[in-house]
Amino acid sequence: MKEWQNNSTGILVIGSSNTDMVVRSNRIPLPGETILGGDFFMNAGGKGANQAVAAARLGGNVAFIGRVGNDIFGEQSITQLKREGIDSEAIITDPVHPSGVALITVDEAGENCIVVAPGANAFLSPSDIIRHRNKIAEADIILLQLEIPLETINEVIALARKNHKKVILDPAPACPLPKEIFTDLFLLTPNKVEAEMLTGVKIGSVSDCERAVQVFKAKGVRNSIITLGESGSYVNSETFSGHIPSVKVRAADTTAAGDVFTAAVAVALAEDQPVEAAVQFATKAAAIAVSRQGAQASAPYRREMGE
Ligand code: RIB
Repeated sequence: MKEWQNNSTGILVIGSSNTDMVVRSNRIPLPGETILGGDFFMNAGGKGANQAVAAARLGGNVAFIGRVGNDIFGEQSITQLKREGIDSEAIITDPVHPSGVALITVDEAGENCIVVAPGANAFLSPSDIIRHRNKIAEADIILLQLEIPLETINEVIALARKNHKKVILDPAPACPLPKEIFTDLFLLTPNKVEAEMLTGVKIGSVSDCERAVQVFKAKGVRNSIITLGESGSYVNSETFSGHIPSVKVRAADTTAAGDVFTAAVAVALAEDQPVEAAVQFATKAAAIAVSRQGAQASAPYRREMGE
């Protein structure tokens, strides 16, 4: 066991696993344009698997439920998750659909543009979740994102509610959500674009963030954190509300920064850290991720957090 690992930190991540195919280029191409880029690299990604790896590296005791294809990418994803010490016994190998793949362009400023071919991720079904419902019963905190079907997310939330578990939803990639998703949600972690889409509030200031979180509250969300990139984040929780500044770094690649942020918040909350401290911890973890290239490759280890 890792020396910093807390046995009681039961984090279950349910979501996507992809193989990221990344090209660096000076800029993101315009529609219809071909440009010559720089180096190509492949690395493990997927918002769900990224969160699982980040949470494990930061000291969480992590299990993952997802669906991969019966192919080399799926095999590599499972091997990688196991190498990180993640309980992978509930990962399903889909006999028909291929593993998820993401095509990513990263520009000179570290900004990215991502298109995902979801493959097997799109077939993670409510019955897969029901089959592995013991994982929900065993977890303290459940982490979700939106690269798996909404009906599956609904099933997880319903089972979590029945088992009195805390659900954290990172609503990425942005899409309209039915109202039952929000009811009793422990924590929602949208970025600015996602918060705008889900609330209808255009965000340009801290008071806009405050208005947006009130919309989430009215929908039944108990706590929310709007991430604002280099402008930090806005937190609305049962114990702390306010703006938290970012940690300044030179951005190499922003891919997975949001995944690392949410995973880090989950780890800190599972350790009973107060919300403000949890967000500061997550801000630092995301800053380290932004300063490095890749998705899972960029997630920091606990020993790098300088505590
Ligand atoms: O959040 C970053 C992730 O989005 C990438 O790893 C890619 O696979 C997509 O899921």
